[in-house]
Amino acid sequence: MTGFPTTRLRRLRRTGMLRELVRETPLGPADLIYPMFVSELEAGRSPIASMPGVDRLSISELTRDALAAWEAGVRGVLLFGIPRERDEVGSSAAAADGIVQRAVRQLKSSIPELVVITDVCLCEYTSHGHCGIVRDGEVLNDETIERLAAQAVSHAEAGADIVAPSDMMDGRVGAIRAGLDGAGMEATAILSYAVKYASAFYGPFREAVDSAPRFGDRRGYQMDPGNVLEAVREAALDLQEGADILMVKPALPYLDVLRRVKERFGVPTAAYQVSGEYAMLRAAAERGWIDGDAALMEAVLAIRRAGADLVITYAAVELARRLA
Ligand code: PBG
Repeated sequence: MTGFPTTRLRRLRRTGMLRELVRETPLGPADLIYPMFVSELEAGRSPIASMPGVDRLSISELTRDALAAWEAGVRGVLLFGIPRERDEVGSSAAAADGIVQRAVRQLKSSIPELVVITDVCLCEYTSHGHCGIVRDGEVLNDETIERLAAQAVSHAEAGADIVAPSDMMDGRVGAIRAGLDGAGMEATAILSYAVKYASAFYGPFREAVDSAPRFGDRRGYQMDPGNVLEAVREAALDLQEGADILMVKPALPYLDVLRRVKERFGVPTAAYQVSGEYAMLRAAAERGWIDGDAALMEAVLAIRRAGADLVITYAAVELARRLA
């Protein structure tokens, strides 16, 4: 390789067109997944203070916003439900007429080609806010995964294309795969939150859906931020149990983990730019300290570069419009 002055890397940076021509990492609207909050308590829409631009939506407002996302080129949405009723065991999570199940039916009839992904977890449905069944202060693994399988089947029966378990119980992907197959839903895919850390970056989300645990924390099931070998084991187990897509979450503080998982397994890989990552950038932008859309675009591009095929981001629609 020859050096300076024959080689001048600035030659290909001189104009926007040259830069575009040699960009290594493509990014387009179809790489983005838009997370949305649908609420049974909502007649219209209400803002989430810590997530500027993100609202809790009634089913009809959800449909309207999903159509706007579709028109901007976004091809997938990830649904989170806020139910009217919560109890000890999260009974409303698997109800055929639950908020998510009704929302999925509406979305699939209004925008049939939209890929509808549903979050599968109990924390939005339990009175204590934990992601599973609790007894004597313990989150029980094996009882929880049966309930998660029932929840996933009810989402699939409503028409969900992909179910996305985010609870971090052991064996849940296998239980969900068996449940789906047993119900004749072998075409429904599983996007596993395979590598989900016990993170401080979920704060705004927990405010949005009111799912902060009423006692203790989630360290008994979510991963230690210091671990990466364990992330590889989690991903391997989920693949073995039938996961179609792996996810790493959060995204930006865990790019090394994302790269490791992608290189090791080479399967479709998603990363979740979580509520706290989004809120930080929006908050700084509101103070005029950074250009929020530019910073979000850069962060999402970096997440793609690190190995994500899909990026789940609350900025999906704004970014898709800028990318168009
Ligand atoms: C539910 C769930 C959480 C998120 C996605 N699914 C919260 C949590 O684990 O406490 C966080 C998403 C975000 O912060 O944007 N288990």
